[in-house]
Amino acid sequence: MSASTRAVLRQVEPFAESRLPAPVKPLPRPEPIGRAVELAFLRWEKRRLEPTERFWRDFGMHIVSRTNDRLIARGTGPSPCIAIAQQGRHDRFVGPAFRMSDDTDLERYAQMLGAKWLAPEQIPGGGAGVEVTDPSGRSVWLLQGQRPADPLPVRAALVAAMNTAQHAPRVNRMVRAPIEPARIVRLGHVVMQTVDFASMAHWYQRVLGIIPTDVQYLADGSPTLAFCRLNLGDQPADHHTVVIVGGIEEKYEHSAYEVIDLDALGQGQQVLRAQGHRHMWGIGRHVLGSQLFDYWFDPDGFEYEHYTDGDLFTADFETAYSPLEFGSLWAWGADAPASMKPKKNLGTLLHVLGLLRRKAITPGRLKLLGQALDAPARPWA
Ligand SMILES: [Fe+2]
Repeated sequence: MSASTRAVLRQVEPFAESRLPAPVKPLPRPEPIGRAVELAFLRWEKRRLEPTERFWRDFGMHIVSRTNDRLIARGTGPSPCIAIAQQGRHDRFVGPAFRMSDDTDLERYAQMLGAKWLAPEQIPGGGAGVEVTDPSGRSVWLLQGQRPADPLPVRAALVAAMNTAQHAPRVNRMVRAPIEPARIVRLGHVVMQTVDFASMAHWYQRVLGIIPTDVQYLADGSPTLAFCRLNLGDQPADHHTVVIVGGIEEKYEHSAYEVIDLDALGQGQQVLRAQGHRHMWGIGRHVLGSQLFDYWFDPDGFEYEHYTDGDLFTADFETAYSPLEFGSLWAWGADAPASMKPKKNLGTLLHVLGLLRRKAITPGRLKLLGQALDAPARPWA
């Protein structure tokens, strides 16, 4: 490796929130109304349920029930449901549902945000819940009192016995991962793009009591991407459960599902390939969150992520800030596909002109977003 190549192989150098350099603006932290303790499930509308059912099975979910108009899936963990697809006129992501702490008062959402109470039969696993609407118009459910399900049997992790140079516990035993879909243990996170980053980041923090773990900012120092974790106090929480990405669309980006270990991720990729599904990106390791990842498209083009070995943090861990760069998405692995960026075509141009005309975005912000996304991710490649 030459000296010039070494010079560009760099890690992002984050700033702690207490030591931000002058141009970087801290992300405002509103007073929370309540506290989410789990991303319970995601709700979908699909014109045809069969292709989604086939993808969910091959992706490693367990189908709980299937009627003519509703499909419910779970993982092997105690959540009774991690995904619902309702038969409808569109293929679309409807919204996320969160399990709220026992000391959260759902009635406050009715009073402060005009939340509507859900009918109990709408909620898989029972309990009570309210529906609120986020600033982009998306439906969000806040739930309490769902009955946990008995966990499903799942193989032991193979990486627990990984031999490393310093520690080799596996002797007289082989690594033989079964050829099967990567069993989903649980739903981990959801990522949503928005034009109005400030309002969405404010709303989700206020409604869910989530904590920004990593914030990324544009060249003018304005926060524009927030990886937020649940506030579980001293109990470790995933690096991110909700991610809000500032961009040029109101859009579901992807959702991510924890699998048993790296061998499940790898064998799961083979199974999905063998079943003819469309691969998107991976295997690689993320920078922010550190997960080993593998991304797939469902039959309608929605992005799903398998992951394992993510970072965990307690509530007191300080928020970090780093510049938004496309290359900061992954530490190693194949380059992120160009499909993760807005297409440079007439449709995008007309859409952006519409945003400018409605003053939904300023020309300055648009330019900074373009700079962040267009900077070469791997300058040596
Ligand atoms: Fe992800």
